[in-house]
Amino acid sequence: MSSPLGKFGTKLSSIAQGNVSKVLVLSGLVLFMLYVFMFSPPNYQPSDLLTSLKQKLPIINAYPSSTPPPITNAPTNVSHIMFSIVGSMNTWKYKRHYSESWWRPNVTRGHVFFERPPSAELLPWSDSSAPFRVNEDITGFAVYPRIKWPDQVRIFRTVMESFREGDKDTRWFVMTDDDTVIFVDNLVKTLGKYDHKKHWYIGMNSECVKSNFDFSFDMAFGGAGYALSYPLAALVAKRLDGCIERYPYLRVSDQMLFSCLADLGFSITHEMGFHQIDLRGDASGYLSYHPQTPLLSLHHIDLIDPIYPNMDRPTAIKHLMMAGAVDQSRLLQQTICYHRPSNWTFSMSWGYSAHIYEAIMARSYLKRPLETFRPFERARAPIFMFNTRWGVFDNPCEAPHVLYFESIEKDGEDRIVTTYLRKWARNLPPCSSYGNHSAESISKIRVFSSAKLPLEPGGAECCDVKMLDMNVTEVNYRPCYSGEVMA
Ligand SMILES: *[C@@H]1O[C@H](CO)[C@@H](O)[C@H](O)[C@H]1NC(C)=O
Ligand SMILES: *[C@@H]1O[C@H](CO)[C@@H](O)[C@H](O)[C@H]1NC(C)=O
Ligand SMILES: *[C@@H]1O[C@H](CO)[C@@H](O)[C@H](O)[C@H]1NC(C)=O
Ligand SMILES: *[C@@H]1O[C@H](CO)[C@@H](O)[C@H](O)[C@H]1NC(C)=O
Ligand SMILES: *[C@@H]1O[C@H](CO)[C@@H](O)[C@H](O)[C@H]1NC(C)=O
Repeated sequence: MSSPLGKFGTKLSSIAQGNVSKVLVLSGLVLFMLYVFMFSPPNYQPSDLLTSLKQKLPIINAYPSSTPPPITNAPTNVSHIMFSIVGSMNTWKYKRHYSESWWRPNVTRGHVFFERPPSAELLPWSDSSAPFRVNEDITGFAVYPRIKWPDQVRIFRTVMESFREGDKDTRWFVMTDDDTVIFVDNLVKTLGKYDHKKHWYIGMNSECVKSNFDFSFDMAFGGAGYALSYPLAALVAKRLDGCIERYPYLRVSDQMLFSCLADLGFSITHEMGFHQIDLRGDASGYLSYHPQTPLLSLHHIDLIDPIYPNMDRPTAIKHLMMAGAVDQSRLLQQTICYHRPSNWTFSMSWGYSAHIYEAIMARSYLKRPLETFRPFERARAPIFMFNTRWGVFDNPCEAPHVLYFESIEKDGEDRIVTTYLRKWARNLPPCSSYGNHSAESISKIRVFSSAKLPLEPGGAECCDVKMLDMNVTEVNYRPCYSGEVMA
């Protein structure tokens, strides 16, 4: 006759001697912990340190009582965003047109922050610029002698100074540079995905592996712009000068914020539409193969070639904004389609470029940027944070015919027509492995897209190609059929 206890006894006895003692130690520990939790004496006190911490710090989801949260679930709109543009009086004259290209007077809210008041020639302050603020003087701070890069601390403190300008209706604080272009409609839509009552640090790292390696892959690069939700900005504003005490030696304000947030227990949420543009030269291969996500920003516009040929930089940005003013949801979004009779692949970057390949190319391959650009700093491979296509420019089957966005118009109520023109000949023989069909004669592409249905963030469209004659092609965007294979 074996009782359950007996079985337990035999099992126990079959366990090696060492394990038995481990079991005994563990059960002892469990009993002890039970005792501590259930019967801890009523006069038990946590350490003084813990008590003082608890008294000083409100729990993390609480709002500061002076600024109650907006009791509204209305969709996020442009009035809910407080922008801060990091500027410098020394360069404002040359850089002001970048922020003026996206700033909407009396619509966008926020300020450009300077190290000193504007010089006389800039006064009265232009209506088309963001209103200005002068950052607080930090030279009197006790920590000042330990600060290695005072200008970076000034910039870092902008988060707090901007927070003080916000009100109860502010949901997001967006920081950006004076040489950054922001795509406001897309940003509003993107931030609207997130619960602004929670803690969010939303941004993007650099295109270059080395920049991320040197700082952090998890740091939001400020030139690309980043967003802090109200509760997180409130927390940072409160703790900011303490961060400066801990990190007076850091070289870049973005690093200070990143370190400060990490100390508070927060990490980045990446949004791939923010672009630091740590690139040089011709960025067209990057802009023509944008990731499948809304375009949010472009930084370092003055360090790359003008984004459209035969234009200076400000004109080129205005040209892009002209398309963006009509439909930001599609701006730079890639749409791929095929023309079977001639074995061609079309890759359009809406409002920017149209590329024709004399071959049928897989989308997975065609989504890789064409490496027309260089990194801003020499580095060992892998250089970029994404796959590229390189060494293809003298291969007739891999090099595209390139057309650039020229004009945009409404076609009735329902359709938008964007026109793309060829600026130069490709100067290569046709691709023979796909039947020798030269696309050299195509000088113009007209693209029809919906004026009524914006492209859903992260969505893709399908398209059909129609040859009008030797020289002109029409591409019609349409929703993809459910499960349609685009190959
Ligand atoms: C944004 O939404 C708020 C409600 O939360 C509303 O009061 C305000 O008028 C809206 N602003 C715009 C520009 O639509
Ligand atoms: C902005 O608003 C102010 C006063 O409300 C007005 O004087 C000014 O003309 C407006 N500016 C623009 C560009 O609408
Ligand atoms: C398209 O290319 C394939 C080979 O890749 C070839 O067999 C076919 O004949 C070509 N079609 C035309 C219309 O040239
Ligand atoms: C393609 O055209 C080239 C001349 O441009 C010719 O040498 C070659 O034989 C042609 N190939 C085919 C498959 O027709
Ligand atoms: C097409 O373009 C070529 C030059 O590339 C030109 O000679 C020809 O006349 C054009 N044809 C039409 C129909 O416009």
